[in-house]
Amino acid sequence: MALDRKNVPNDLSAFWMPFTANRQFKQAPRMLVSADGMYYKTADGRSVLDGTAGLWCCNAGHNRPKIVEAIRQQAGELDYAPAFQLGHPKAFELASAVRDMAPEPFEHVFFTNSGSESVETALKIALAYHRARGEGQRTRLIGRERGYHGVNFGGISVGGIVNNRKYFGTLLTGVDHMTHTHLPKEHAHTKGQPEYGAHLADDLERIAALHGPETIAAVIVEPVAGSTGVLIPPKGYLERLREICTKHGILLIFDEVITGFGRLGSSFAADHFGVMPDLITTAKGLTNGVIPMGAVLATSPIHDAFMQGPEHLIELFHGYTYSGNPLSSAAGLATLETYREEGLFQRAADIAPYWQEALHSLKDARHVIDIRNIGLIGAVELEPIAGAPTKRAFQAFLDAYEKGILIRTTGDIIAMSPPLIIEKSHIDQLIDTLRDVLTNLD
Ligand SMILES: Cc1ncc(COP(=O)(O)O)c(C=O)c1O
Repeated sequence: MALDRKNVPNDLSAFWMPFTANRQFKQAPRMLVSADGMYYKTADGRSVLDGTAGLWCCNAGHNRPKIVEAIRQQAGELDYAPAFQLGHPKAFELASAVRDMAPEPFEHVFFTNSGSESVETALKIALAYHRARGEGQRTRLIGRERGYHGVNFGGISVGGIVNNRKYFGTLLTGVDHMTHTHLPKEHAHTKGQPEYGAHLADDLERIAALHGPETIAAVIVEPVAGSTGVLIPPKGYLERLREICTKHGILLIFDEVITGFGRLGSSFAADHFGVMPDLITTAKGLTNGVIPMGAVLATSPIHDAFMQGPEHLIELFHGYTYSGNPLSSAAGLATLETYREEGLFQRAADIAPYWQEALHSLKDARHVIDIRNIGLIGAVELEPIAGAPTKRAFQAFLDAYEKGILIRTTGDIIAMSPPLIIEKSHIDQLIDTLRDVLTNLD
């Protein structure tokens, strides 16, 4: 098909693209110009099946009428309202709707604009919470190797992905990391949660003993690690982490930026695994990825610890110009309604077994060394090219895009997280095309 010239800018140099091989991209741009349902349209008129829900965020698929209309209407009614010392109705309505969708202990919602900001917010709430209760010596924050918690300084400090850390100085002090949960030999080709590995949570006891548990404010983990290449928690691991945190008075933060809003077939991973943290960070699926927004969910004991002192005083010295802004709030309300009306979380749970079997049918495909899955998340790990890590998976991504499917890669791992509206025929298209890509890959 002829190139649609009006959609192809002739100067690509100004935009310094995030997490992108800029020079490679600008030589052969991959330009998306529209989207509907399960498909993107490219500038050269091709359809590309969205195997990643954008960036793990468009859980209801693309161009959803209710969400589009809500944003349109809101923009014409109240475009912006100051976020500090003033309110507007939709932010309160959305906070209540999120609370109603969240596990029971989570009664309060603090709005941000992204997953990274949710992480910073949760870490700061944890520190200030302990201080408000007279335990200001709890200043240490514990993350995990291979963890991804966004790109701000708190997030990369508790995060455990080396390239996201090593270029950026000394990061936060007082941070330590538990060992990651990936045991390639024992876990290879496991469907769902691995049986073995709950004991890896005991690494928190080692860290607590090293620093003194009374110095630790919080532990943050992704219930399912996504950006590091999909690491599924071994059975009993999250339960054990919860026990150790409770024993030592340490807050447990679940970073649910990708697992929130239906990805595992329930509202949150906390529901899915039946393990309740003290704080939950979210973003992405909150607005179906359409307008930037994030949120931190807090239990009443945490929230109430701040509600002390004279009532004219600000209780938490934190917030963003766009916290709970009208357009995001309208998009969030319409998104949650769409999830509810279409029963999308249940839909994800119902189709997850088909997804699992389709993914694992790639076990004998060329270059594949491991396959992992849970809910509507899947990863296919490739044998790296000797001396050129990441190159093979990146080539797979490029070839897949040319052949009409959108996948994501991190290291030599292909990660997929399709919209929850996916049909079996889309799963077949995704997996068949990926098999074809792998077969023809060097
Ligand atoms: C677990 C987790 N936390 C935080 C983030 C950062 O979110 P954002 O890119 O919206 O800042 C991400 C993004 O993928 C994520 O997966």
